[in-house]
Amino acid sequence: MQFARADFPEGFLFGVATSSYQIEGHRFGGAGLTHWDSFAATPGNVVRAEHGAVACDHYHRWAEDLDLIAAMGADVYRFSTSWARVLPEGTGQPNAEGLDFYDRLVDGMLARGLKPAATLYHWELPQALADMGGWRNADMPDWFADYTHLVMSRIGDRVWSAAPINEPWCVSWLSHFEGVHAPGLRDIRAAARAMHHVLLSHGRSIAVMRDLGMQNLGAVCNFEWAEPASDSPEDIAAANRYDAIYNRFFLGGLFKGAYPAEVLAGLGPHLPKGWEDDFPTIMAPLDWLGLNYYTRKLVRHKDGPWPSYAEAPTRLPLTQMGWEIYPDGLRDFLIRTARDYTGALPLFVTENGMANPDRVDQPDAARIAYLGSHLQAVQGAIATGAPVAGYFAWSLMDNYEWSLGYEKRFGLIHVDFETLARTPKASYHALAQWWRG
Ligand code: FCB
Repeated sequence: MQFARADFPEGFLFGVATSSYQIEGHRFGGAGLTHWDSFAATPGNVVRAEHGAVACDHYHRWAEDLDLIAAMGADVYRFSTSWARVLPEGTGQPNAEGLDFYDRLVDGMLARGLKPAATLYHWELPQALADMGGWRNADMPDWFADYTHLVMSRIGDRVWSAAPINEPWCVSWLSHFEGVHAPGLRDIRAAARAMHHVLLSHGRSIAVMRDLGMQNLGAVCNFEWAEPASDSPEDIAAANRYDAIYNRFFLGGLFKGAYPAEVLAGLGPHLPKGWEDDFPTIMAPLDWLGLNYYTRKLVRHKDGPWPSYAEAPTRLPLTQMGWEIYPDGLRDFLIRTARDYTGALPLFVTENGMANPDRVDQPDAARIAYLGSHLQAVQGAIATGAPVAGYFAWSLMDNYEWSLGYEKRFGLIHVDFETLARTPKASYHALAQWWRG
């Protein structure tokens, strides 16, 4: 597979993505405790109880990392700022060293000709706010607005784009209903409140950034294509519920000012009072939407309380995560999102990639094939008229893959977690060739 820039529309942007807790090293620079630190310290939550104290030590090695991004020929770098790094207690006294770090980082990108694409929240909630209920607490939108103001007063004049929250589904459902991510709750009421507060916090944050005069603001959602495991009406309804919770709830809130009936059937009684009145804030106009896409799920009906579904066995080759490789889902999401929700609004693939048991001495051919087939899916969507404006590979380098620790390697660059040495993989060189072509 070969690509060149000319195979994509003029001005199409290519980039790589990372996030703060996954790479920076949270024990450095005066950052406060986060709910991922306490989640990881609780046995059984994270593989080998691994955490982000050192991670890739990007906090000290950021210049080398930016050099590697620039050397690939990337146009844009999607990074995130850590709330606990700039506000160790979540509110109150800022940590000057943390703000200085992001200031230097943004200047470092600009100096290398990279467009900084900032995300304000990629999951490391300050522990002090988690202690007060975190995303369940109705004060979260206020706290998040204040945090937005602090960070963007400092770097908002130089970032190319900004998004408030990475992947509302993971922040709320995965973390409060399925218990897989911090804070590890399995509680329908907590999930309902978190899902709504995440969207309301998003809207408040957009308003703060508009007031600061910022432009090019967006949202980043993760989507999973859901298909019924059989033609039975029960399985079809189960796949629709899965799709509604995972995908259409957030799109519906952001772009239609309504939540899907299939979700309200379960979560309705648990949403915070007056939730219907929050849509004018949630629907603050955006300049783009980012889609993170990795896989598809086959879904079947399961007897029992709402949401009454289960995942069915997959049929296609899997990545190291056990995720089915299904590039058509990316094409179909781009087309469906534009058709049903966003119209002419520019769409970006803000994350896409695969984990693979890479070794530093072996070419990661499987990743090159994965990235190539998904870039073809993007081309397929563009061919039907979907306004796709850019593509970011996840991830720049191997990093802390949350509850799966350091074992799942998503990087274009290999990281030796003993020496922290970076070694570009074959996929890094392939993308560099495509992006320069
Ligand atoms: C996404 C996350 C990212 C990483 C990839 C594999 O859901 O945004 O941090 O974990 O999955």
